[in-house]
Amino acid sequence: MQSTLAIALGVLLTSGLANSDDNLQQHEDFAIGGAFFQQPWVSAPTSTTARDGLGPLFKANSCIACHVQHGRGHPPLTATEPFMSTLVKLSIPATTAEQLTVAKTLGVAPEPTYGDHLQPLGNKGLQGEATPRFSYTDIHGQFADGETYTLQQPTLHLDALNYGTTHPDVQHSVRVAPPLFGMGLLASIPAAEILANADPDDKNGDGISGKANQVWDIEQQQTVLGRFSWKANQPNIAQQSADAFRNDIGITNTRFPEQPCTAAQTDCHHLPDGGKPEIPDDLLDKVVFHVNAQSVPPRRDVTDPQVLQGERLFKQSGCASCHVPTFPALATQAHQPYSDLLLHDMGAGLADNRPEFAASGQEWRTPPLWGIGITATLSGHTRFLHDGRARNLLEAILWHGGEAEPAKQHVLALHQPEREALLRFLNSL
Ligand code: HEC
Ligand code: HEC
Repeated sequence: MQSTLAIALGVLLTSGLANSDDNLQQHEDFAIGGAFFQQPWVSAPTSTTARDGLGPLFKANSCIACHVQHGRGHPPLTATEPFMSTLVKLSIPATTAEQLTVAKTLGVAPEPTYGDHLQPLGNKGLQGEATPRFSYTDIHGQFADGETYTLQQPTLHLDALNYGTTHPDVQHSVRVAPPLFGMGLLASIPAAEILANADPDDKNGDGISGKANQVWDIEQQQTVLGRFSWKANQPNIAQQSADAFRNDIGITNTRFPEQPCTAAQTDCHHLPDGGKPEIPDDLLDKVVFHVNAQSVPPRRDVTDPQVLQGERLFKQSGCASCHVPTFPALATQAHQPYSDLLLHDMGAGLADNRPEFAASGQEWRTPPLWGIGITATLSGHTRFLHDGRARNLLEAILWHGGEAEPAKQHVLALHQPEREALLRFLNSL
């Protein structure tokens, strides 16, 4: 805990959150928030703990089960491994007036039987919803210099659908847990600075649009700029965390007061809960404080000539049009996010065909690249992109299409030593 505190304090200092008087209180909030982020929730009722209320339907029993070491999740790495740090979102196209009303605040119309998040597990005798599984199809390609590569395109299967078949028009989106670096810094960027990079109609004609997602803020009861999660579908860390508590762990809160049971899941409604709400706002705020304070890993090998060559190639290839190094608000920070936090059409290959708020089925938020080079060390794997399909950084680039097609073509034309330099740069972030 000591070292985590030290790192977090580093962020507090650089983000200006720490001023002398509040220091002790902040340490305490950070530690309490960390405990509720890490320790497993248990089934209600218990008389001994404030951490009961798990389920009745759920995906995991703690935040850290998916955000392992506050790092990045991955799809199963072997045929027998279950889906752990990866979740499946569900919906149907919103057509009726009622569905459109729901979609205004939820971003989607939930699948009628299973809701908008798949909960593979149940407790208190309740069956989980289904068991997700990926199968893969190989896609072959070639660099200009003749070297070949193979990408794997995932297909989702839902085995053992325990509450009946899904709606015929069901839409799925599989998403890995993103790493939680620098959340507080991203939250601190004024909306105007993000909107300044938006060019939804590509008025400057560079082939890169960049669209802001507009999402419902439950606390403010209005539509605001979205900036978190894979489709910028969340306005702030508090709402994303509240959503995770309810939909992933089954812990109700003031933003999401109902258990994740649909009308079709009748038994689910009658089971004991861990209080109303199961996590009060003051504790949720401490979890948010803990998440916000996670620092960005320092860069490595910054002055290495190969890294510097890679940085030039990153710019020349057009990567920085979307992976914009920084924002005015973060200009004095030691580390840069390399994201515009905007949505981009990434082509049919990456599409989930599941719109969420203003994001289309082909649009994704540019993910920040800071800390991406320590994925293997921190998270023990090198799986990238929203569903973790890319087995390394090069594959992640080769999946780029749509607005990023020219950037990918640029990389395809690079020679092997240049590709190495580009990857060396990414690994230095
Ligand atoms: C089942 C796995 C899982 C669990 C458990 C989980 N998360 Fe997540 N988390 C995700 C996924 C997947 C996303 C991306 C969601 C999306 O794109 O809609 C995410 C997104 C986030 C983000 C936004 C990150 C970004 O880059 O914008 C934050 C913050 C976060 N989670 C915090 C939490 C907290 C706090 C908890 C515990 C209450 C938690 N998560 C529990 C999987 C999980
Ligand atoms: C048009 C905007 C755009 C351009 C140009 C672009 N990217 Fe991306 N990049 C994205 C988006 C959006 C994603 C997320 C796609 C997904 O997860 O399906 C992404 C994902 C990535 C990832 C994986 C990140 C993660 O967290 O999994 C890497 C690495 C990456 N890009 C590197 C590059 C490099 C290198 C270039 C230049 C050759 C580049 N990108 C050009 C928008 C862009």
